[in-house]
Amino acid sequence: MCGIIGVSGVHDAPEVIVEALRRLEYRGYDSAGMTIYQDGRLVRVREATGTHSVELLSKHIKDFQGSDSISGLGHNRWATHGKPSQENAHPQFDCSGRVAVVHNGIVENFLELKEELLNHGHVFSSETDTEVIAHLLEVALIETDRIDFALAEVFSKLRGAMAIVAMETSRPTLLACVRRTSPLIIATNDGEGFIASDIPAILGRAKHYYQIDDGVVAGVELGEINAFKLDHEPAEPREFVVTWDLSRSARDGYDDFMSKEIMEQPQAIRDTLAGRLQLWDSSGIKLDELRLDLEQLLGVNKIFMIGCGTSYHACMAARYAIESLCKIPVELDVASEFRYREPKLDPQTLVIAVSQSGETLDTIAALAEASDSGAISLVVSNVVDSSMARMADAVIYTHAGPEVCVASTKTYLAQIVALELFAIYFAKLKGTSTAKEIQALATALTDLPDKVEQLTNRFAEMIQVASKVEAFERFYFIGRNVGFPVALEGALKLKELSYLPAEGFPAGELKHGPIAMLDPSSVVVAIATRGRLWEKVMANLQEVKARGAKVLLVANEGDQQTIAEGDAAFLVPQTHPLLSPVLDTIPLQVLAYHLARFRGFDVDRPRNLAKTVTVE
Ligand code: F6R
Repeated sequence: MCGIIGVSGVHDAPEVIVEALRRLEYRGYDSAGMTIYQDGRLVRVREATGTHSVELLSKHIKDFQGSDSISGLGHNRWATHGKPSQENAHPQFDCSGRVAVVHNGIVENFLELKEELLNHGHVFSSETDTEVIAHLLEVALIETDRIDFALAEVFSKLRGAMAIVAMETSRPTLLACVRRTSPLIIATNDGEGFIASDIPAILGRAKHYYQIDDGVVAGVELGEINAFKLDHEPAEPREFVVTWDLSRSARDGYDDFMSKEIMEQPQAIRDTLAGRLQLWDSSGIKLDELRLDLEQLLGVNKIFMIGCGTSYHACMAARYAIESLCKIPVELDVASEFRYREPKLDPQTLVIAVSQSGETLDTIAALAEASDSGAISLVVSNVVDSSMARMADAVIYTHAGPEVCVASTKTYLAQIVALELFAIYFAKLKGTSTAKEIQALATALTDLPDKVEQLTNRFAEMIQVASKVEAFERFYFIGRNVGFPVALEGALKLKELSYLPAEGFPAGELKHGPIAMLDPSSVVVAIATRGRLWEKVMANLQEVKARGAKVLLVANEGDQQTIAEGDAAFLVPQTHPLLSPVLDTIPLQVLAYHLARFRGFDVDRPRNLAKTVTVE
């Protein structure tokens, strides 16, 4: 969703803003703009040429030459109110061009606010809800000459989840920002101040990073931060440590971020396991940041796992480990549905919310609902100090590093691994599994990064296999048990990247309807690695073959019996059955990658998608 950058006291402000917007492109956007204070006024450029917008914006850098051009705002827009166009791109101005605003999220009551402003003679030049904020600031600045004070007054009138950064011409070095649920960070570096919607935007440039709570307004000026609550009580921005380095958010010679991030999967798993699996220690698992009261955890008699998209699939893949090791009922829900079905929650329920960004609004809302009902909450997040990490009673971080490609790859595998670590931890605590069972899974986890590496090292070979189905246009993915979430994830990746119709089913469900769609023009991708239900998958494959569909398999290396059943096969190493979703998913990431590139699509920024979905 929209990407925000604001800079104060930065001598190469236009370059820094454009570079930040480039690094925020992964969030998904359709237009972009920036404004720089120069010669006493706000100079603005905007482009609305889809994913070329930031590139076009960079051509304007040379137009900003003034020695006073040290403050400005930039924005990548993902359209909600009004089509992608130059007029609707941010920054949005007030009537006179004194105030500039960039915004992510939705002002739910913008229509009534706009009507009031129109009645008072304000002139609007866009269809956006954002422009309402600029005009409200214009009004508030009649009473105060500070943009941060004006923003505090305006913010209390706005409904909805959002993050805002604003500036004005009478004190252009002072930027004001505020957030409600939507992500926003502040950073400083020797006289320079930055505000951004995500860390990669300013990685390498800023030294100190800060979070502000919901409803706290911050004035950021030349490296100084003045934060206060809406009632003007002082507030402390919380400093947090960023361990990501710049090279992990750069392409590093790869054609795209997706292939880079697929190749980073062994390291993502190594880093997620690091220091947590104490195989020779009787405590077994170390989850330092879990911060949960053990008595409370022991009282848990039911678990809900929630997430969206790929993160939901990670919940589904890890459910098998939690149920089997911890002997506890686990329910799954897509976060946007969970809150509306009135689940029965109480202090003995554990709600596990899984999110790469920790900022997905659907999951945040579900988590808030769970906490309000008294349930214990645990978040699995890749972003330290994300909104969800702060809301939950407990957190387990995946240490996958920044993920830039819109489609999740390495964070998905890291999520499954983190959840399996939790399964072992909880099973040991409850005493629900034998030492042998736990040791088997723990040993397999230790071996997992090398096996993932064996597979990613064969990237080119997987592309060869994928190329055998280049000409096909309809895909069905089937799997049973732990293979079912793999099938769903394979279909989701293919849809998002190649825009080809793709569906995932439990293999046993085929005959109850979907089989009607099979014919020689369709491809069935079957997850056929050796597991508990392998024989049944084989039987389902016969049904597929009888309908003439092309069969692409995910099978274990050396398993000739299975390989002989398909037209082509991706070969993966054998592992513990509960970990097979980690390995089996990798060829399907490569399949989606190849078919998208074959069709000429941008794999890092698929159409219509956003990396962090901050609207419901
Ligand atoms: C798919 C994908 C999305 C996200 C979903 C949740 O490749 O990336 O389906 O998984 O939007 O995002 P997070 O994990 O940030 O909550």
